[in-house]
Amino acid sequence: MDASHPVGVFDSGVGGLSVLREIRRQLPSEHLLYVADSAFAPYGNKPQEFIEARSMAIVEFLLRRNAKAIVVACNTATGAAVATIRARHLLPVVAMEPAIKPAAALTRSGVVGVLATQRTLASHNFVKLFERYGNGVEILAQACPGLVEQVETGDLAGPGTRRLLERYLSPLLAKGADTLVLGCTHYPFLRPLIQEMAGPDVAVIDSSEAVARQLWRRLEAHDLLAAPEQKGTERFWTSADPASAAPILRQLWPLCHEVRRLTEIDAGEAAFLCP
Ligand code: DGL
Repeated sequence: MDASHPVGVFDSGVGGLSVLREIRRQLPSEHLLYVADSAFAPYGNKPQEFIEARSMAIVEFLLRRNAKAIVVACNTATGAAVATIRARHLLPVVAMEPAIKPAAALTRSGVVGVLATQRTLASHNFVKLFERYGNGVEILAQACPGLVEQVETGDLAGPGTRRLLERYLSPLLAKGADTLVLGCTHYPFLRPLIQEMAGPDVAVIDSSEAVARQLWRRLEAHDLLAAPEQKGTERFWTSADPASAAPILRQLWPLCHEVRRLTEIDAGEAAFLCP
């Protein structure tokens, strides 16, 4: 393993770019590989075995491209697959955890709302967090079907997205939630709308900063931090049709010049890049 090698990051789609953004901010020297499994998004309504199989295949793909560490930039894949990834691979693996701990410390009303996919809310990891920080704080779990799809199509503030958010936020706000946890990596792209709809007195938090910090710590512990003089680059793969994926990738990551189809893990063909 070499410190100049890249870090592999993946998500069910473009949501993990919210984590990639924070990794880029905190670790400017790292080369980053990003896989958006958009042809199979959303993961949130798929069986655990399916998400695990996709995640394992993507990790293998990233390892073939010399990834020195893996970031599972997807709460749903974390719940479904991180234990298996860690059991099979020795390299540093950093994964998502909904920001319930900081939310429990932050709330003044004692009511925290958690927005996530159905599968994340049903996962063992989430149940453990719920039990751990639910003492003295009311934690309201809100599944948000449809929101990932809105982000995948680049609809970050249109009427359809607004209607869905209205439906999901209203019960939480009516019960006095003053802190909202974005427990899916797609949702930070909806933060401006969520904040506008929830109002200025409600804190909206996610865990991308903490995950990037944790990546820094794990790389440092393994002596794998890239040399400061290295200029970090990004390369992007998508399992969706690149022609339809490119506009949304560029909307969320303006420096992405080119997107090619991820075919290798499915069909054994060579994949592509985005320098
Ligand atoms: N970004 C993924 C997450 O954090 C979305 C999951 C999905 O595709 O349903 O959970």
